[in-house]
Amino acid sequence: MTNSGLLYEGKAKKMFETDDPNVLRVEYLDQVTALNGARKDITTGKAILNNQITAFIFEQFKQKNIQTHFIKKISKNEQLVEKLEIIPLEVVIRNSSAGSFAKRLAVLEGQPLEFPVLEFYYKDDSLNDPIINDDHVKILKIATEQEIATIKREGHIINQALITLFKEIGIRLIDFKVEFGRRKDGSILLADEITPDTCRLWDEKTNAHLDKDVYRKNIGEIVPVYQEVLDRLENTFY
Ligand code: ADP
Ligand code: TMP
Repeated sequence: MTNSGLLYEGKAKKMFETDDPNVLRVEYLDQVTALNGARKDITTGKAILNNQITAFIFEQFKQKNIQTHFIKKISKNEQLVEKLEIIPLEVVIRNSSAGSFAKRLAVLEGQPLEFPVLEFYYKDDSLNDPIINDDHVKILKIATEQEIATIKREGHIINQALITLFKEIGIRLIDFKVEFGRRKDGSILLADEITPDTCRLWDEKTNAHLDKDVYRKNIGEIVPVYQEVLDRLENTFY
């Protein structure tokens, strides 16, 4: 695969222009990072798994009328998506305490939260993606009040759809991160990816981590764990 048409090379994916100005080709990478890229490793097989998992979830969303950028998978590690203007927010929704929430607020890891907590992080590597509130989003002109409302509404709908999906395969959705983008007509839809890189997924019975925390916490290999998530999805829904 050449880098011709490369628009952006991120930590987990490369984004390429295509003949259609409204369509991007996404190439998933066998790279895993933590600490904003300060820790980096190659994990053969992750790209194929994440491409399949995110395609699977976005296909499911289509059936539930949740709009996403996903068009189609075109190879084991590539998919086509609608090109959007990404809103530079990491929208995190938490159903149980974990990660930075547990650390910052001293809430026991795994403690279920009374209601889903939605947080905004400003997607800016040079600032280390700081947590921000609605006023910050408005004052920095990241999104309008109306767009914030849409993002929150969609975020909670996505959360409910993911809770249900993962529950079917014996997995508890602890938290996850999504990104949204704008079409030229101003409509907002789900972009980027939903994979074990961007979610915390705990086995319902054992609490085993089936996500990137196995890498962050150095407690195992991620490829077999991501494969387990894909196998459960495919075995349950096909
Ligand atoms: P990072 O930028 O955090 O290293 P990735 O390696 O996942 O992340 O890179 C993918 C990049 O592509 C991200 O910056 C993401 O915001 C962007 N992106 C995702 N979906 C779209 C889309 N539909 N249109 C344009 N850009 C997108
Ligand atoms: P956090 O507890 O580290 O803030 O992470 C919350 C959720 O967001 C977790 O599921 C991992 C995901 N996430 C990303 O996908 N990308 C990121 O850069 C960060 C910080 C978190």
